[in-house]
Amino acid sequence: MGVEVGNVALDQRPVSKLDRAVIFLGPPGSGKGTQAKTLAGKYGVPHLSTGDMLREHIAQGTPLGLKAKPIMDRGELVPDSVVLKMVAERIERPDCSQGFVFDGFPRTVTQAKYLGELLKYHGLKQPFVIHLVISTALLMRRLTGRRTCKVGGEIYNVYDRPPKMDGICDKDGGELYQRPDDREEVIQPRLNAYEKQTAPLVSYYRRLGALHQIDASKSVAEVEQEITQAVANIRGAR
Ligand code: AP5
Repeated sequence: MGVEVGNVALDQRPVSKLDRAVIFLGPPGSGKGTQAKTLAGKYGVPHLSTGDMLREHIAQGTPLGLKAKPIMDRGELVPDSVVLKMVAERIERPDCSQGFVFDGFPRTVTQAKYLGELLKYHGLKQPFVIHLVISTALLMRRLTGRRTCKVGGEIYNVYDRPPKMDGICDKDGGELYQRPDDREEVIQPRLNAYEKQTAPLVSYYRRLGALHQIDASKSVAEVEQEITQAVANIRGAR
């Protein structure tokens, strides 16, 4: 549900082009995937989740997937070289020419610098970063409770966003599964990797003046509303 402005629901108002990369930055479970999917849908641009891309490689048993699987199972980051090649190939595709939404990328300063160069090369503006801020205490519940649809990737939470029928996606009837890295013993290494390797991106992008901070402990609808507003503002401020 969107916010009502007069008689018009904000979500249903026509939105024009995004024309840049929007990056969702935040720890595991902060809601990057949930919100990135929605924002990309609103603007009709691709939602690029490096986690989803890597899981797809694993599911297909590609050499890249075979390399990434044990690393992801330990909750560590996949090497920059692997991720950068995958991202560079993806944003070459024509559907990215009007902008796109990154979820889980960049995750290291090296990735961020490379992305900056890549965007310049493709003639795209510098990215706008949405930083989802949340306490660690809330993340465990979000991650252990997460269930994802095998068909369309819709994200649920057995505690806070349960499907109408246990184990079945409301949208397409797909089977819901639990990610292997959402086991408690893998969550802590993922949080550690975030603190050590990804959190430095907050000051990196703040220095570039491209960072917008959002309280991610609010409800999905409230967070969505703030993101919609923040993105509309940067577009209006050009
Ligand atoms: P990735 O798939 O990117 O996972 P992540 O960053 O750990 O983030 P998550 O997907 O766990 O959480 P999220 O923030 O998207 O939250 P979600 O919306 O699902 O990466 C997995 C692995 O791949 C990494 O560990 C690494 O090995 C590798 N990898 C990926 N990218 C890489 C890169 N660039 N470089 C190197 N390695 C890389 O929400 C979580 C739960 O909370 C859901 O149940 C949802 O329903 C619920 N929820 C969401 N928002 C709210 C809310 N506002 N209120 C209540 N519940 C909510």
